[in-house]
Amino acid sequence: MTMRTDVVIIGAGPAGLLLGHLLRAEGIACVVLERQTPDYVLSRIRAGVLETVATDLMTRLGLDARMNAEGLWHNGFNLADGERLVRIDLAELTGRKVMVYGQTEITRDLMDAAPGRGLEVIYEAEDVALHDIEGDAPYITYSADGTGHRIDARFICGCDGFYGPSRAAIPDSVGRPFERVYPFGWLGILADVPPCNHELIYTNHERGFALASMRSMQRSRYYIDVPLTEKIEDWPDDRIWDELAIRLGPDAAAGMTRGPSIEKSIAPLRSFVFEPMRHGSLMLAGDAAHIVPPTGAKGLNLAASDVHYLCDALTAYFRHNDADAIAGYSDKALARVWKSERFSWSLTNLMHRFPDDGPFERRMQVAELDYIASSRAAQMVIAENYVGLPV
Ligand code: APR
Ligand code: PHB
Repeated sequence: MTMRTDVVIIGAGPAGLLLGHLLRAEGIACVVLERQTPDYVLSRIRAGVLETVATDLMTRLGLDARMNAEGLWHNGFNLADGERLVRIDLAELTGRKVMVYGQTEITRDLMDAAPGRGLEVIYEAEDVALHDIEGDAPYITYSADGTGHRIDARFICGCDGFYGPSRAAIPDSVGRPFERVYPFGWLGILADVPPCNHELIYTNHERGFALASMRSMQRSRYYIDVPLTEKIEDWPDDRIWDELAIRLGPDAAAGMTRGPSIEKSIAPLRSFVFEPMRHGSLMLAGDAAHIVPPTGAKGLNLAASDVHYLCDALTAYFRHNDADAIAGYSDKALARVWKSERFSWSLTNLMHRFPDDGPFERRMQVAELDYIASSRAAQMVIAENYVGLPV
C-alpha cells in the first residue's frame, strides 16, 4: 500500500505526538508511525517536571485541561548536602514556576486527543526504513499486519528516541556525536504514598545522590544513584527506603511515608548530542538527537523546544514557501540544546559522587553548595536554567 502526506513523523513518544498535534493545528498533513503498542508507550516512566515551553504547547493545543486540574505548580525546589537544605525560590528569582505533572500523563493526553484532532497514528509499524532523505521526495517503508507499506512525503521528522532508525540514516561523513556516559545509574521507585516534602529535594550525601520527587500529593517518586553493576533484585523496597532516609537527612526522613513500590528500575545516565539535527529532508527532534542525564528533568522540555522550532519551520515552508527556517532549524535547536546539556551536566556533577572523587572533589562540591546558599546571583543562575531558558 502506498500513500502520500506532507510530513511523516517516526515515533509516538512526547516529541512525535506533540509535533503531530502542532502540525495538524496548522493544517499540515502528517502521519505518525510508532513501532510499539499504545500501552507499551504509556508504560515508560519518565521524569515529572515541565517548563513553560512544554505547558505552553499543551495550552496552545487546548489539551491542558487535565494538566491544569491534576498538575502541581511548584514555586521552588531544594538542593541539599545531607545537612542543610538550600531552597531555590524559582518564583521570587525568576517570576516563573515549574509544573509537576508526569511526562507519561502528557503522552497519554496527546494520545487520547489524536483521533478527535484527525491525527493519524499507526502503531505496531515494523521495520520502519527511511529512503532518499537527501532529496526533496523522501519516503518511508514499513510493514504492518504482514503487509509492506510505503509513505511518500516532503519531509521526515525523526522523533524515534535514542535507538530509532532516523539518526542512523544520517551518513557518518555528515553527522557527529558528542557523548559522556556517567559511571552510575539512578534507581527509581514509584509508590502511592504522600511526598516527604511539598517541593523536590536533590541531595548529595556522603553516601551518594538522592532525589525526592512526586507525581501528585498521593504518589511519590524517589531516586538514589547506584553503581551500574547493581541489580534491581538486590534492592528490595525496604533497602531503598532505608537508603533514602539516610541520604535525604533526618527532616525529610521524618516526613517520608514508606509503601510498596509500583515501579522500580535502574536507568543509566548519559549526555549525548548529535550534530546536525537536519540532513536533507530529515529533521531530528527529542531523544533521537540528544540525551540529558535526568538531573534537572530537561528531557521532555528539550523535546518540546525542538518541536516548537520544527513546527514553525514547517509552517513557514508549507504556508509561505519559505525554506529558510528549515535550513536554520538545526542551528536554532542546537543553541538551546547545548545550554540545557550544560545545565544538566553541571547539576549532575554537583550532586553526585564520582568513583574517582577524593576528599578534594568532595570539598569542592560542599564549597559550591555553600556558595549557592549564600549568593543570590548563584541561585539566580540555577533558577533561570531550571525554569527553562527562553525559546
Ligand atoms: N519505528 C517506529 N517508532 C520507533 C522506532 C522505530 N524503528 N524506534 C523507536 N520508536 C519509537 C519508540 O517506541 C518511542 O515510542 O519512538 C518513540 C520515541 O519516544 P521517546 O523515547 O519517549 O523519545 P522522545 O519522544 O524524543 O521523548 C522526549 O520525553 O519523557 C521524556 O525522557 C523522555 O527525554 C525524553 C523526552
Ligand atoms: C521525577 O519526578 O521523576 C524527576 C523529577 C526531577 C528530576 C528527575 C526526575 O530532575
